[in-house]
Amino acid sequence: AETTLFRSQLLEWYDANKRDLPWRTLAMTEPDLNIRTYAVWVSEIMLQQTQVSTVIDYYNRWMKRWPTVEKLSKATLEEVNQMWAGLGYYSRGRRLHEGAQKVVSNLGGQMPKTTATLLKQLPGVGRYTAGAIGSIALGQVTGAVDGNVIRVLSRVRAIGADCNSPVVTDALWKIADTLVDPKRPGDFNQAMMELGARICTPKSALCTQCPVQTHCHAFRKVGIKQETVKKHL
Ligand code: ADE
Repeated sequence: AETTLFRSQLLEWYDANKRDLPWRTLAMTEPDLNIRTYAVWVSEIMLQQTQVSTVIDYYNRWMKRWPTVEKLSKATLEEVNQMWAGLGYYSRGRRLHEGAQKVVSNLGGQMPKTTATLLKQLPGVGRYTAGAIGSIALGQVTGAVDGNVIRVLSRVRAIGADCNSPVVTDALWKIADTLVDPKRPGDFNQAMMELGARICTPKSALCTQCPVQTHCHAFRKVGIKQETVKKHL
């Protein structure tokens, strides 16, 4: 029952406060699963080391030039690098390009259809990115634990241990996989990221505006005294 309430309070906040981002609109309106999966893959790779406000323009230009995985597979690496210029970490663009060629030559042009196969078959797609693409594009009921979500979950559960240790990371993944809303997994995961980016921030968390404050063990224990949660950065 607490889990159900957590999900509905988080999603109600997300529905009222989410930013209109082009990959979100596409994931809601594009009926072709192959295109949705490709589009969310592109957005998640761009978002790996670059902030949302910078990614928007690059994403729109990329999707205009290469709207499908087939079209990307026919681009040259020079064209890809040129398009990537300014985003940094060029290996991300190269892996997208390699991945597109692999999908076309080895998978008959069909993007993987599950979180597990996204993880296995796409270069540069790790556990987080596979979970994000799987849930957002394909409705797979899998968690997606990035830096923001690590902070949110370790506060909600008041995990005081070093949240970068493998044991804690593993525990946080288990929590994320059970907490994710099976009816709206992609929205749930994006709501967790958005909560971490906008409310449950590293330094001055805005606990008074938090939609899941009543579920937060860190808040219950120490209120919004930030010194005590600094270890959760
Ligand atoms: N960062 C990584 N993935 C994101 C997403 N889908 N929406 C907003 N920020 C993100």
